[in-house]
Amino acid sequence: MNVPSSIKSFNRFREAIYAFRLPRILFSALELDLFNRMEARNWAIPQLAKRLRASQRGLGILCRNLASVGLLLKSRLGYQVAPFAKRYLQNTSQDFRGEYLTLMQRQWREWSQLTEVIRAGRPLDSQEPETSEYRRSFTWAMHHRSIQPSQDVAEQVALKSARSLLDLGGGAGTYALAFLKRNPMLHATIMDRPLALDVARAIAQQSSFWTRLTYQSGDFLKESIAGNYDVVWYSNVLHIYSPAENLKVFKKIKRLLRPGGRLLIQDTFLHDPKGLRPLETNLFAVSMLLYTDRGNTYSFQDVRAWLQRAGLTHFRVIQLKKGTGDWDGQLIEGRIPRSG
Ligand SMILES: C[S@@+](CC[C@H](N)C(=O)[O-])C[C@H]1O[C@@H](n2cnc3c(N)ncnc32)[C@H](O)[C@@H]1O
Repeated sequence: MNVPSSIKSFNRFREAIYAFRLPRILFSALELDLFNRMEARNWAIPQLAKRLRASQRGLGILCRNLASVGLLLKSRLGYQVAPFAKRYLQNTSQDFRGEYLTLMQRQWREWSQLTEVIRAGRPLDSQEPETSEYRRSFTWAMHHRSIQPSQDVAEQVALKSARSLLDLGGGAGTYALAFLKRNPMLHATIMDRPLALDVARAIAQQSSFWTRLTYQSGDFLKESIAGNYDVVWYSNVLHIYSPAENLKVFKKIKRLLRPGGRLLIQDTFLHDPKGLRPLETNLFAVSMLLYTDRGNTYSFQDVRAWLQRAGLTHFRVIQLKKGTGDWDGQLIEGRIPRSG
């Protein structure tokens, strides 16, 4: 993501602060449901203002801004939704990223409470149990987030000799399905909590790979994990947990892997000894502060140490093609020796 990597002048500081303007404009467009309500038509501002129950002045300035970043197209007839926005931001499109947009809007509001969370050291809503509606919506959001990266990752991870894969904390099963699509001999199991698996089942039924997919419902920290696997895929879960919890999970994973088996971890990793780069990884740690009790982001070295302590060897960083993967394109691999 495009965020300034260092601030060494007041100008840079100002730029960093005012970076809130475009996101704020985009959120207003979403809150007004502008992209959906514009459908496929060309709109003059007075008609659009009527339709959205907004002021002509406000909408005129909003649309000009949206057109200046390419989300709307401007002509002498007025404005229409640009092809990219039609594809991802209109709910009539197959590629609509609706639940992810909802999650982003919720995050905008919740990030405003960051100071309080830093003071208290407790996540938002730490006293309230999670609702089933939230879990469903979050699982769909993760699916919408991962649809494209999962295809790109599956293309680059060699699983030809693997026959069984566990997608641990697999949520909607987006990655499991992408691996099944690329590897016709592979069978996959998704382990997650029941509500996430409901979403996974609904998605899998739309695909032709569900016959090679099974589900394991439960909490992998508290309960035992069944089965033996050639590969365990652990994507975007590491950051939810503390070092001690991750070590505990790695030890469980070690027992699940067949000789020669591999643990593949996708996450956002710190690269440097001081833990300052990349900035995106540190920004993500703030999300973990807001939403989890003990989550954080970690370095390659942290993960290497936990893998070693869990008895996994052959630590390797797999570099993906630039611009692919969920983060900046690195996976961590640990193996179980062939001799057992
Ligand atoms: C951020 S989502 C990632 C989903 C998916 N792996 C991906 O990369 O798109 C984390 C998932 O891990 C699941 N999860 C976290 N802790 C878990 C636990 N202790 N037991 C079972 N599932 C867990 C959550 O329910 C959620 O579906």
